[in-house]
Amino acid sequence: MYFRPSCKTVAHPKRVSSASMSWLQERKQFIKALLNNPAAIGAVAPSGAALAAAITASIQPRAGKVLELGCGTGVFTREMLRRGVHPSSLVLVEQDTEMSRDLRKQFPEATVLQVPAQELSRESHPELDGIGTTICGLPLRNMSGTHHQQLLAAVFGAMRPGGAMHLFTYGVRCPISPAVLAACGVSARRSRFVPMNLPPASVYSLTAASA
Ligand SMILES: C[S@@+](CC[C@H](N)C(=O)[O-])C[C@H]1O[C@@H](n2cnc3c(N)ncnc32)[C@H](O)[C@@H]1O
Repeated sequence: MYFRPSCKTVAHPKRVSSASMSWLQERKQFIKALLNNPAAIGAVAPSGAALAAAITASIQPRAGKVLELGCGTGVFTREMLRRGVHPSSLVLVEQDTEMSRDLRKQFPEATVLQVPAQELSRESHPELDGIGTTICGLPLRNMSGTHHQQLLAAVFGAMRPGGAMHLFTYGVRCPISPAVLAACGVSARRSRFVPMNLPPASVYSLTAASA
């Protein structure tokens, strides 16, 4: 049984791959993608270690598959492996071609889907079966309300009951509007503030309102 939102209209450190990029390569790749498509990147640098630790803090190594949206250079992915998540439990979604190619190199055991996150569905992507937690690195403030709604329907339609989606924002409130959250039957709470990120960021945790 999966929760299907009826959106209305509105510690095994050795698992980190040997193909990890150098600090310089990572910045180069990020800046190239930023120059190609600034709105789709929505940040001036990959997230820092403190934010990676905060957004992945509640992940338990054996709590099922983890869906990561907007992986970029793999900062959050590497942190999950460091926490003991097995690479074969990861479903990584990234729309940028070069970044997707590099994620496949860095994490050969993970599933990498090069697709816009809002177009995911369990019907077209059976890899989503059994997702327990979602980590979202998407530039949500640059996405429309319609895309937010499609995204929540896709994520909460795929996750097992009780699953949570953790996202970050540089803004002062959840980047998904109360109207969209209510329409999708999802509630959001700010779970962490990360002053040591550049810029400082908040992590929000979203769960099905009925959970
Ligand atoms: C702000 S970067 C974050 C990267 C990484 N998670 C981090 O924190 O450093 C946003 C990433 O989301 C990807 N992205 C943007 N819109 C997307 C979409 N609709 N579907 C999938 N990926 C998307 C971008 O290509 C980029 O890699």
